[in-house]
Amino acid sequence: MSAENIGRRVAAETPATDVRSTSLPTVSDAPPVLEAVGITKHFRARSNPFRRTPVVVHAVDDVNLVLRPGRISALVGESGSGKSTLARLLAQLYPLTSGEIRYRGEATVATRGRRFRRYVSKVQLILQDPFGSFNPVSTIARTLHRAVRIHHPELRTAERTAFIEDLLAQVNLQPARQFTDKFPHELSGGQLQRISIARALAADPDVFLADEPVSSLDVSIRLGILNLLRRLTEERGVGLLYVTHDIASARYFAADTSVMYAGQLIESGSSESVTQEPAHPYTQLLIASAPDPSRPADAERIADIGQPPSLIDPPTGCRFHPRCPFAMERCRTEAPPRFDLGAEHWTRCWLYADDDEARAQRKEDAAAVGRLTASPAARKEDPPAAERP
Ligand SMILES: Nc1ncnc2c1ncn2[C@@H]1O[C@H](COP(=O)(O)OP(=O)(O)OP(=O)(O)O)[C@@H](O)[C@H]1O
Ligand code: SF4
Ligand SMILES: [Mg+2]
Repeated sequence: MSAENIGRRVAAETPATDVRSTSLPTVSDAPPVLEAVGITKHFRARSNPFRRTPVVVHAVDDVNLVLRPGRISALVGESGSGKSTLARLLAQLYPLTSGEIRYRGEATVATRGRRFRRYVSKVQLILQDPFGSFNPVSTIARTLHRAVRIHHPELRTAERTAFIEDLLAQVNLQPARQFTDKFPHELSGGQLQRISIARALAADPDVFLADEPVSSLDVSIRLGILNLLRRLTEERGVGLLYVTHDIASARYFAADTSVMYAGQLIESGSSESVTQEPAHPYTQLLIASAPDPSRPADAERIADIGQPPSLIDPPTGCRFHPRCPFAMERCRTEAPPRFDLGAEHWTRCWLYADDDEARAQRKEDAAAVGRLTASPAARKEDPPAAERP
């Protein structure tokens, strides 16, 4: 937001009670604002204090991801799959082990100094716990004045105050005085999350990396924050990465969804196709585990036959093979390539190879998904021939 925009007021959001009652996500095909190209992060860590050689944690492996202006992209996966590490890599809070981050089409490394400050002002991280991101002994006014001073040093005190009032109006906190005189502990989690979004807006960002922005909040206020993020994304043309455990919310909130398992992206596509026609057995498992009142009570679930793997010594071949009910011999030894399923939906799973064994297993899988959704026609029986990249 530029200084000229002081005084602009945004109409209050329409409160909604059900995320499904809001419009479906809009799709933007504008050129990417931020791109991860084959990014990898291996942490060196000590598994115990007596071990001299550090172990390597394969937190993120060879991930490609695209964020576009005005578009919400969800990143879904269970705990420990590498979602936060990926968001932090995009924010350049950690150096990459390999790969490249492109900001507005240009490879960008910004780990220190002015370059880093400029980058983090354009690519803003919104964290799960708003209380942890505020100084507990500073009033909200003091925190926001400091943020505005950093990003708009040209503003005088009175202009800064007007600017802050405008920021708070944009996140539907009015009148501003009711919030600015308070300390963080005097506000609710939802109010504080709105203020952390207002603080992020002070920098006029191009990208929001929202790492589970509502999971620490009361269920009743989650939707309001998601609607706020959606409105800001659309109005300001910001690219938003929405990191979540909750694949059901991704369907209604995000235009596209990528699924992460053990440090790797294993499926991606429009949220509609990934959630309605999940191709990878892990995505199917995530959907089967999500509460869904519309699913018949006696619907059989996709079996989960194991635990998430160690990222210190991840399984060979497909990392999901120890838990996969459809695993074949090649799954244990060969990492699956990317198979395109059409309409920008792809997966990394040997079920989509073009041979008899894969076709037979795919039928078994389709039957299991049919039992889960109680709609056997819900997914393609015979998807397009697999293509390697
Ligand atoms: N600084 C670090 N040093 C060593 N290992 C790390 C570090 N940060 C994360 N890890 C490891 O990387 C893996 C991925 O962690 P990450 O926090 O990215 O997962 P996540 O998907 O965000 O999980 P959650 O849903 O619980 O937030 C985990 O095994 C974690 O222990
Ligand atoms: S590649 Fe094999 S083990 Fe991995 S998800 Fe597909 S079928 Fe299961
Ligand atoms: Mg996390």
